[in-house]
This record gives sequence, C-alpha cells and structure tokens, in this order.
Amino acid sequence: MAKMSVEDLELKGKRVLMRVDFNVSLDKEGNITDDTRIRAALPTIRYVLDQRASLVLMSHLGRPKGKVIENLMMDKVARRLEKLLGQKVLKLNDCVGPSVSEAVHKLKAGEVALLENTRFYQEETSNDPEFSRQLAELGDVFVNDAFGTAHRAHASTVGVANYLPAVAGLLMMRELEILGGLLAHPKVPFLAILGGAKVSDKLGVLKSLIHKCQFIIIGGAMAYTFLEARKIPVGKSLVEPEWLEEAQRLLEESTKKGCQIYLPSDHVIAQEAREGLKTKIVGERDIPSDYMALDIGPRTIQMFNQVIDKAATIFWNGPLGMFEIEAFAGGTRAIAKKLASGKATVVVGGGDSVAALKREKLAEKMTHISTGGGASLEFLEGKELPGVAVFKEKSI
Ligand code: 3PG
Repeated sequence: MAKMSVEDLELKGKRVLMRVDFNVSLDKEGNITDDTRIRAALPTIRYVLDQRASLVLMSHLGRPKGKVIENLMMDKVARRLEKLLGQKVLKLNDCVGPSVSEAVHKLKAGEVALLENTRFYQEETSNDPEFSRQLAELGDVFVNDAFGTAHRAHASTVGVANYLPAVAGLLMMRELEILGGLLAHPKVPFLAILGGAKVSDKLGVLKSLIHKCQFIIIGGAMAYTFLEARKIPVGKSLVEPEWLEEAQRLLEESTKKGCQIYLPSDHVIAQEAREGLKTKIVGERDIPSDYMALDIGPRTIQMFNQVIDKAATIFWNGPLGMFEIEAFAGGTRAIAKKLASGKATVVVGGGDSVAALKREKLAEKMTHISTGGGASLEFLEGKELPGVAVFKEKSI
C-alpha cells in the first residue's frame, strides 16, 4: 500500500513538526561548505507554509553523542535556511522544555522555527520514549522529509510517530519513488558502480544487487579485498582479511546469477597514501609488495567506460580511488565525466561520489542525486527503513 505524504493532509491552522536532514558538510570552523541538503528540503518547507500551517523543524548535525558542541549548533544552518527561504527562521536554543514549547506555541501560520541539534540529547539516538513524547508535543502532525536519516531509528525519525500521525515529505517521496524504481523496474542492463574504502559497508547492498544488476563495477580500496580473494597480489593495498571469504562467495554467487563483476585491471600505486609521493601505473598482477594501489589505471578506466556504454540504468556509490588526493583522483573524475556524457538513467548516492561530481560541476547532469548515503544503500539492500516504516498508509 502507498505511504501517505504531506499532500494527503489538511494542514491549514496546524502546527507541523518536520524532521529534515540538515546534516550538512562543515569546515573546521563549523562553516557550511555544502548546503545541498538544506536546498533539498525547501519544496516541502514551502509547501507546508503555503498551506498556512506553522512549522517546527528538527535535525541532527554531526555526531555530538549527547553533548553540546558549539560548532555543531544549528545557528549557521538557521541563517542559511533563512537566506534560501527568504523569510525569518526562529532558531531555538533547545529541542524540548518550557521555553521551546512556549516559543513554538506562539508561532503563527506561515512562520518557521528550527530546534537545536537533536543529537545534543543522547535520548535522540537511543529513541527514548519520553524525549520522543516531548518532541511530539511540539506539533499536531509529524512530517519526515529526512531521507538521509531514514535508516536510523531515532526519537526524531521514529519515536515521535508513536504520538503523532506520521507522513512523508516531498523529498522523501521523491527519493522513495526514484530508488524504489531502481529496485522494482530498472531499465536493463542495470549497472551498479560501487567504490569507497570498505567492503564491509557495501556487502549488504552487493548481495542484493547481484540479483538485480547485469553488471557491477567495483573500484576504490574495497576492490583490493576482492582481488586478494581472487589470489591477485595487492601489495600493501587496503584489504579486510575478515571479509575475504565473503568476497569470494559473492564473486561465485554473482556468476551463478548472471551478474558480471568488473574489478580493476591496472592500478595507480604509491608507497603511501600521501600527496607528493612518486606514483606509478602498473598492470593487474604487478603491484610490488611495498606499494599500495590508490586509484584505477587507464586500462581500467577504458574497460569501465565500455561497461557504462552498455548500461541503461546506473547506480553509483563511492569513489573509485582516493580522490581527496589529486594524484589519485583521476579514476573517479574520469568515471564522473563518462556518466555525465551518457544517456543512461544515473542515480548517485553517497557523500563522496556526490562531492566528486560537485567538484567537477557535473552534479546537474545526473538523473538524480540522492540526499542519502547510508540510507540509499540500506534501501537498495531491500530493507524497509525504520523512518519509512512509520508512515501512515493511504486507505485507497
Ligand atoms: C548522513 O549524513 O548519512 C545522515 O545525515 C545520517 O547521519 P549519521 O550517519 O551520522 O546517522
């Protein structure tokens, strides 16, 4: 049955408690370096305000683990939202308590308040019932637009739904529709490109995608656990020994399922993962024992490009090399450019791949950039996300 969205409710005169994912990237001083997630929530925020409801926004920022951390206060987020929205945003200094309650109850239709970082309370991540109840008192209905945090069963994503009717925001609906479409009816051939450091982070999604995809490209440091599982010498490259057997099983299983897995066939190597060291390009089996692979080589790029050319639908998560260091950014950049120039439906999830696309100014060339990293992976694993499970069902 379909989930209810904010558009299915009569909001006029109501106070809407809305969870957003304003977990934006910050620099060392706590300045916002990327406000995509704030922009992504604007359509739902505007919709609620246009319905003549008042709006109480809540979000986490970073991982303060139940402590108040100055750089993780929501003030800068509130100022940025104010600028993007073009209206005043009342920043509150707490999430619950009498002063918050009073301020929220004074809001008029069309006005917005933003609570302090929900993770300043450890009760947030422990999904504490009393904290959830106190949050829920701030609204008449609960709208969750935080797709990026929908895989967390926290007080502000799940707990409040025990006390208020819960519906999805517009961004949440769009994410569910697009990612759901990838699982339910992707145009084939369907290709997944998975990179990043750890096999352990991607194993769940890999297990699911070998049943859905015709092709899977594996790059980034995680590829070296797979190469080692294939008995290919990988030198000092990052390998997770505890996942070798699982990687081997996955390679065998994918062949049985008719899903072809592609791994790097040449490598950019160095003695350490540092800027300024001499790099070399070597063949598949030529990584010396005192070197590590840090990016895919030109032959691999060519091979991956040929696979990309065959695909009608592509999901990309994770860089293909250590792209934070310029000497090892070439593979990720080449793949990003290739994806931008093709005709396939391309959905990208995950902070690092999105950051790489933005750096190349290619983000707008993708069909959809998901605001969820971990959430998009868990969704594609086929799990029902806890933040989605709580939405009311439509009766027809
Ligand atoms: C994210 O950035 O993926 C979400 O905001 C969730 O953050 P978390 O991984 O700290 O729960």
